[in-house]
Amino acid sequence: MLQRSGSKMPEMGGESQKGKEKEVPVSFDNLRDKNLMQLKKLNTAIFPVRYNDKYYCDALSAGEFTKLAYYSDICVGSIACRLEKKEGGGIRVYIMTLGVLAPYRGLGIGSKLLNHCLDLCLHDPNISEIYLHVQTNNEEAISFYKKFGFEIVETIKNYYINISPPDCFVVRKILNAFPKPKGSS
Ligand code: ACO
Repeated sequence: MLQRSGSKMPEMGGESQKGKEKEVPVSFDNLRDKNLMQLKKLNTAIFPVRYNDKYYCDALSAGEFTKLAYYSDICVGSIACRLEKKEGGGIRVYIMTLGVLAPYRGLGIGSKLLNHCLDLCLHDPNISEIYLHVQTNNEEAISFYKKFGFEIVETIKNYYINISPPDCFVVRKILNAFPKPKGSS
């Protein structure tokens, strides 16, 4: 299941935000209409929440900020983001989902997906923050994000419907983009 649809694998890379990444044979692919079903299958396997059409529309619109991760041609993980305009100007990135299939966890794939997005953020001076919601009992994910410098900034009661606990944390990282080189506009 979740086999690649024959598209070219883009290069991975960028500066890691959290030490040296593990060397695993993982490649990323962009999300498109053609492979949207891969993300739907992943989400069904990983998350207790069902995602609506707007989620998939936002994920597609986020361009490079949404990626599928392949391990030996099997789609095993993804990061799906939404880019939000801030009231006072600028952009913030909302991580809608970040997930890796259970047998492939602990191999560094989640770190590679998150580092990919953090690298994109750091190279865009318009992006000042990245945040997400996480269920309050999801200790593995909370400690995962803390390793990357994210902090819990808020608790929202009854954020989720039909899952227990229904509460979530808002977890955020403020970003300081790399300074532009002298002479660039
Ligand atoms: N056993 C032990 N530790 C683990 C394991 C595991 N199976 N998986 C992850 N970790 C911890 C380790 O501390 C590891 O750090 P280390 O490499 O320095 O030891 C750290 O997580 C990073 O590990 P990665 O291998 O890079 O992460 P992974 O590929 O496992 O992905 C993720 C982490 C995405 C949180 C994964 O556990 C997952 O998919 N969980 C279920 C979905 C989920 O809860 N997603 C986040 C919800 S919030 C949101 O989506 C916005």
